[in-house]
Amino acid sequence: MKFRHLLIAASALAISFMTSCTNSTNGNADAVLENIHSRKSVRQYTEEPVSAEQIETLLRAAMAAPTAVNFQPWRFVVVSEREELDAMAEALPYAKMLKQAPLAIIVCGETTWFEGRENPFWQQDCSAATQNLLLAAEAIGLGAVWTAVYPDPERTQKVSEFLNLPSTVKPLCTIPIGHPAGENKPKDKWKPENIHYGKW
Ligand SMILES: Cc1cc2nc3c(=O)[nH]c(=O)nc-3n(C[C@H](O)[C@H](O)[C@H](O)COP(=O)(O)O)c2cc1C
Repeated sequence: MKFRHLLIAASALAISFMTSCTNSTNGNADAVLENIHSRKSVRQYTEEPVSAEQIETLLRAAMAAPTAVNFQPWRFVVVSEREELDAMAEALPYAKMLKQAPLAIIVCGETTWFEGRENPFWQQDCSAATQNLLLAAEAIGLGAVWTAVYPDPERTQKVSEFLNLPSTVKPLCTIPIGHPAGENKPKDKWKPENIHYGKW
């Protein structure tokens, strides 16, 4: 009889432990979903610099992205020199906000992998890293925007020359980053008509 009571008590404890684990997961889920849905492109910034600690937070998040066969082709160039940022703004027609941004991180990809063959996944891996970086920026109160470089040949060449990239490394995008200025709101992109269940 005593043994039965002990068993019941142990089961109750196990269930309560499992429930508490589930609850804490739900707590994190809310925060993660809130972060995803709050992210927006921010193109105006204050003059406040981005700290070294914040830069590391962004880069750590970027490198936590999924990557084909765990190859991790991403490379990052961190630019905070005013002159360099201004010169890049001149060269990139859709990244004029670099003139105002105190920081840019250029997400680049090593385009070769095993036996020097072309890595067909570098753009996907670097895109995942870019999204992680944008979400991290949102989470720590920074504003950022993905500005396209690759595959536009002219922009790719300009940025590659500018950053002195090795020939096998391509710049996917430039991310101007800073403390947000003005009003920035996330867009609601939920469209059930874009979903197909089972087959199209
Ligand atoms: C591949 C890609 C390229 C983009 N290129 C630019 C760009 O060159 N300049 C820019 O201002 N925004 C650029 N954006 C940001 C989009 O304009 C923005 O994500 C879109 O309008 C949706 O707004 P949201 O990011 O606030 O949700 C780019 C986004 C992606 C994913």
